[in-house]
Amino acid sequence: MPAMVSPRLAIGLLVAASSLAAALSTCIDGARGTAYGYEPGTPTGPENWGKLSPEYSLCGEGKQQSPIDIVTKEVVPKPDLESLDRTFSPANATLVNDGHDISLKFKPGTVGNLTVGGKAYDFEKLHWHAPSAHTVNGQRFPLELHLVHRSADGGVAVIAILYKVGGADSLYPQLRPKLEVMAADKCNFAQQESRVEAGLVRMPRSVQRRAGSYFRYTGSLTAPPCTENVVWSVLARVRQITKEQLDQLTAPLPRGAAGDARPVQPLNGRTVEFLNVTDSIISFPM
Ligand SMILES: *[C@@H]1O[C@H](CO)[C@@H](O)[C@H](O)[C@H]1NC(C)=O
Ligand SMILES: *[C@@H]1O[C@H](CO)[C@@H](O)[C@H](O)[C@H]1NC(C)=O
Ligand SMILES: *[C@@H]1O[C@H](CO)[C@@H](O)[C@H](O)[C@H]1NC(C)=O
Repeated sequence: MPAMVSPRLAIGLLVAASSLAAALSTCIDGARGTAYGYEPGTPTGPENWGKLSPEYSLCGEGKQQSPIDIVTKEVVPKPDLESLDRTFSPANATLVNDGHDISLKFKPGTVGNLTVGGKAYDFEKLHWHAPSAHTVNGQRFPLELHLVHRSADGGVAVIAILYKVGGADSLYPQLRPKLEVMAADKCNFAQQESRVEAGLVRMPRSVQRRAGSYFRYTGSLTAPPCTENVVWSVLARVRQITKEQLDQLTAPLPRGAAGDARPVQPLNGRTVEFLNVTDSIISFPM
């Protein structure tokens, strides 16, 4: 005998089930590329990335790799570097967890752009690394935000913002409910990524408008395939995030002790340039 359920209760259950479904993230199957990890000394660890796949060869053989340690005493002042000031429009975004990092992806051309060396780059996505990928004078930070921009010809320009534990970050509260949904998700990251629609996201002042002083160098993506000719701008002002926000940002990631920071790479003769913007905050002894 099947249990009797009143029509009203049945409808109520259906509505509850569909709103629950709307709140869940989706595990999307897809080509994930060759697996890699961040734990040193393991077969898929950063020192072995270049050997995991021919597509990852630059990770081992590249001479302009990222991240790097920025030694402030050795940077070259470059007053003619362009200002990084930007204005972003509110735009619909998707939160994506690929098992390595969490990113917020926008439809290109909907948020804003950046001009570097006379070339326009569309803001495409942002993601976090914890702990930081770049170090400054040997110091590693608990978090680094990457704002990734792409030009029409496929060039990549990334603005990196370092965070220390302190006051609250203003971008995070908009994402908090979505991150909680994502943290409850159980995707198989070998074959899937997790996605949550984040709705309209407004970029806070802390990541746009007056970007201030920064360090500039040419490097690579900090994850396989480690593609080079990436224009890096690491902001000289360290931002703050609370310990609780930091923990919640990293909660959805399956991670080991090394987090998702690639070790720093040799400069191989590259120079790091520095733009000193009047009245901007520089968090490091120069
Ligand atoms: C964001 O998405 C919503 C729902 O699809 C839509 O109504 C709105 O116009 C979008 N906003 C922008 C700025 O694209
Ligand atoms: C850059 O963004 C601004 C403001 O959204 C827009 O007016 C301009 O057309 C964009 N430029 C390019 C080259 O996409
Ligand atoms: C930056 O420029 C200001 C003057 O605008 C100067 O006082 C300051 O020493 C400079 N800082 C560095 C690190 O060059």
